[in-house]
Amino acid sequence: MKAILLAGGTGTRLMPLTGLMNKHLLPVYNYPMIHYAVNTLAAAGADEILFITGRRSAGMFIEYFGSGRGHGASITYLIQEEAGGIAQALELAKPYVGKEEKFLMLLGDNLVDDSLEPYVKAYEKEPAGSAMVLLKEVPDPERYGVPVFDEGGKIIRIEEKPAAPACSYSVTGIYLYDGSVFDVVSAIAPSGRGELEITDVNNVYAAAGKLAHAMLQGWWADAGTFDSLLEAARHKKDGEGQK
Ligand code: DAU
Repeated sequence: MKAILLAGGTGTRLMPLTGLMNKHLLPVYNYPMIHYAVNTLAAAGADEILFITGRRSAGMFIEYFGSGRGHGASITYLIQEEAGGIAQALELAKPYVGKEEKFLMLLGDNLVDDSLEPYVKAYEKEPAGSAMVLLKEVPDPERYGVPVFDEGGKIIRIEEKPAAPACSYSVTGIYLYDGSVFDVVSAIAPSGRGELEITDVNNVYAAAGKLAHAMLQGWWADAGTFDSLLEAARHKKDGEGQK
């Protein structure tokens, strides 16, 4: 299975650290943040990773992972020239993915303990042209994409960083798509902040009744803020979860 790993963006919430280096190279205890993401993908069964980052730090990622040999998957590097949004980064992978080919996408600042393999298996059973997101209960949903459910428990839409969240679940940065996602990405417009938003992509699937979801069981963090980065480092130091 192919996987897409995003390690671009500007990391503004971690300035001034990210003035010096890409967020995903920052230490989470004893490894650079991105190390965990590659391990997570390889453990989920990804044998081919499309690694997307900006030009400034690409060389450092290549130096760390090389071809991927020794990390459990072959890695192809793609350059996102400007941080135009998660969906714009995803679009760079279009030439590498077949029309009905299913794949896993992970945001490089998302850390998980769970194996993602069961979720990949669950998505394999979903029909072509559908997508799946993983949800996690959090104390601060306003930091994230937040799902809105219908009475049957299906996601009808996702609200991005809502001031008044509809529930206490976040949409994690773990997404399952097939090649249909590239038609969806090419049909959405940039948001108010000028980015192609992954939430707008997921909302197209939700509106069509084609957005499945599953609850992530174990520990999860978006290590993109000082507090969550520290919490993630503590978690790793305590020896919990995968390396
Ligand atoms: O972590 C989960 C959250 O991630 C979701 O709940 C939100 O719905 C989703 O929009 C996203 O929100 P963030 O505010 O955390 O996104 P951020 O801009 O921090 O970027 C997330 C990752 O994507 C990070 O690893 C960097 C990468 N990225 C981001 C942008 C904007 C890129 O590779 N290229 C980009 O242009």
